[in-house]
Amino acid sequence: MNYKRSSALFTEAQKVIPGGVNSPVRAFKAVGGTPIFVEKAEGAYLYDVDGNKMIDYINSWGPMILGHAYEPVVNAVIDKAKKGTSFGMPTEIETEIAALAVSMVPNIDKIRFVNSGTEACMSAVRLARGFSGKDKIIKFAGCYHGHSDSFLIQAGSGAITFGTPNSPGVTEGTAKDTLLANYNDLKNVEDVIAANKDEIACIIIEPVAGNMGCIPPAKGFLEGLRNLCDQNNILLIFDEVMTGFRLAAGGVQELFGVKADIVTFGKVIGGGLPVGAFAAREEIMNYLAPIGPVYQAGTLSGNPLAMAAGLAMLKELNENREVFKSINEKTAYLHKGIDEALASENIKFTINRVGSMISVHFSEKPVIDFASAAEANNENFKKFFHGLLNEGVYIAPSAFETWFICDALSYEDLDATIAACKKVAKQLK
Ligand SMILES: Cc1ncc(COP(=O)(O)O)c(C=O)c1O
Repeated sequence: MNYKRSSALFTEAQKVIPGGVNSPVRAFKAVGGTPIFVEKAEGAYLYDVDGNKMIDYINSWGPMILGHAYEPVVNAVIDKAKKGTSFGMPTEIETEIAALAVSMVPNIDKIRFVNSGTEACMSAVRLARGFSGKDKIIKFAGCYHGHSDSFLIQAGSGAITFGTPNSPGVTEGTAKDTLLANYNDLKNVEDVIAANKDEIACIIIEPVAGNMGCIPPAKGFLEGLRNLCDQNNILLIFDEVMTGFRLAAGGVQELFGVKADIVTFGKVIGGGLPVGAFAAREEIMNYLAPIGPVYQAGTLSGNPLAMAAGLAMLKELNENREVFKSINEKTAYLHKGIDEALASENIKFTINRVGSMISVHFSEKPVIDFASAAEANNENFKKFFHGLLNEGVYIAPSAFETWFICDALSYEDLDATIAACKKVAKQLK
């Protein structure tokens, strides 16, 4: 494939945008090569500025669950835009989408809309701290909750006592309030809690992890966290930015029947526009300004275009619950096909999948946490990524990302992808 125009645009972009991109993973640093500049997208396909067509397995990192340029969403945005694009005053549609979201997701009474998943998680943690009167939080190594300071933390030398910043600009003072635990390791969480007794406001987790590839929670892990939280007066935050309105209408709480105290959303809830949200039972949400003491605000929060896109998307998913079954079946079909394609070349690999989230790890060991995800063969991943791209299949340009399946994919698309995997497998070790 020819990427001449993408290359030229990347050169120009780098002159005025740091690294040429507005979000780092887009830069292809993990896989090498030049990022592809998109011209347009429709259904399951991306079209780049050089005229290449690709089957898209990223779908804007999750939001486009029904495919790109989905007509009801596009029309809702166009209709709204004609009436003005922002007012900074309440609008009826905010209540409409809030009521629908509350009706679809278990255990939430009220929801507040923000502009990104980062804001949602940052605000959820502030709310948990304000509500509980405690400062420390537990997060899991390899889970991503956006780029706010409290989350850009890695395990320190005393891993069960405090974390250290993993980006310059994050202060030691902030880092000391974030404790790191290992995903799927309940004993480790217990130890962290015991070492910080009565100081922990909340545990925040991707209840199905998607930021170290897809990693399912081990049997009993989420239930165990729920019990630990109950026993220690800790709030449990499910970061459902990826999983919300994707793995089920009610997200992971519905899928696995485990109750969270606060839930965060992003991606699908905005139908492809910049939206995040956080939600909880009334008692917790009433702690927020203007009725409660915890401050949180946004000039463009609840923006009419974003709400129109989100509402159109949620309505579609609410009225057609078969969608979840359909994307799960498509992903299962893809899983089986890729499994056979890689096995036929004796490649060492592990495929993880939950519903419509799937990832291929070039490791023969089970991938259950950050450490096991990091052990995989990245050289093979790079070849796999570029090989698939060459065949017109676009997956995330990093081994630490999940693929997001959308319902616009046809079984012919899936067969073409499996055939591409078979071809590329021959180039792997
Ligand atoms: C689980 C999770 N939480 C939070 C975020 C941050 O969302 P945003 O990129 O919209 O700020 C992401 C982004 O990928 C995510 O995957």
